[in-house]
Amino acid sequence: MIGYIFLFVTLALRGTAALDSSDLAKIDATFSSFITGANLATTVRLVFHDCVGGCDGCVNINDPSNAGLQNIIERLDKAYTNKRTGYSSLMSRADFWVYASLYALKNTTAQANAACSEAACAVPESSLVFTTGRKDCATAPFTDSIDGLPGANLNYEGVVDYFRDEFGFTDDESIALMGVHTLGAAHSTASGYQGPWVRGETTLFNNHYYSTMSSSGWRQRNVDLTGSSPKVQWNSGTGMMLNADMGLFKDFTLNDNGEASCTYDSCGATPGAAKVLEYSKSNADWVRDFESVFTKMINHGAENLQEVAV
Ligand code: HEM
Repeated sequence: MIGYIFLFVTLALRGTAALDSSDLAKIDATFSSFITGANLATTVRLVFHDCVGGCDGCVNINDPSNAGLQNIIERLDKAYTNKRTGYSSLMSRADFWVYASLYALKNTTAQANAACSEAACAVPESSLVFTTGRKDCATAPFTDSIDGLPGANLNYEGVVDYFRDEFGFTDDESIALMGVHTLGAAHSTASGYQGPWVRGETTLFNNHYYSTMSSSGWRQRNVDLTGSSPKVQWNSGTGMMLNADMGLFKDFTLNDNGEASCTYDSCGATPGAAKVLEYSKSNADWVRDFESVFTKMINHGAENLQEVAV
């Protein structure tokens, strides 16, 4: 009987507040078994999609904007609901997903530094702070509700208006956040767009999104494989950019098919072009600003978040 009372008291005391760095180390070990390779980028994408409308551990997998996320949601949920490790008693799913994204960013920063042998390409280590206290929706990890995810056919105004309306970000914050597309790739089986933003570097977190965007050789191309809806993206020898990416740097309007009003060489500069150039020259500037806006994104809709003691 005394044993049961002790167990009850221990469990009652062990809420989110009891979470500490040894718990996080165990979760890191779990993540290292499946947040690898392509899943690193997909995990970061998942958290953006979750945080649109407020981070709540819920994604509508029937919304075509979320295509490609089902597998990582299931992998994370298997880890989260594992009774042996008991992670679900430590934090909400939304917190668990956020922690997974911080793990992915730390890991891809380390990979970028492992691939870099000069001071000029060094990326500052992640100083993102993990907080808990986000609340899940009642049906987590899935929901039927439709959150307003952005389409890829946006120009400069489209991107900055989207982030201002949804998150309250400034233009410069939107530009800093979008550099995360240096990770991962688009898939014809998911969005219908194709290829990595930075070829050969899909798991390296660095400023090459900006340095490739501001180098020449970009042409628009329709990569639609279905013949039903055009998927116009920008391609070059270094990778691809969506209109919403290139729109940060080049000033264009788009027609209904996503074709730009000018070519890479003939388009003028956007009001954000100087920022793109600044970030293309400095990992330190970009990572500083990225971490600040990413923190706002992962706190979206949450109150009274608590830092985890380390
Ligand atoms: C206007 C804003 C944005 C648009 C239009 C956009 C659009 C897209 C599209 C079309 C894909 C390809 C999905 C696929 O085919 O698998 C993608 C991938 C990705 N997005 Fe975004 N995105 C935006 C903002 C963001 C933000 C704010 C983040 C994170 C903070 C993010 C993180 C990612 C990542 C990491 C991938 C690669 C996923 C993978 O490799 O599986 N995106 N995005």
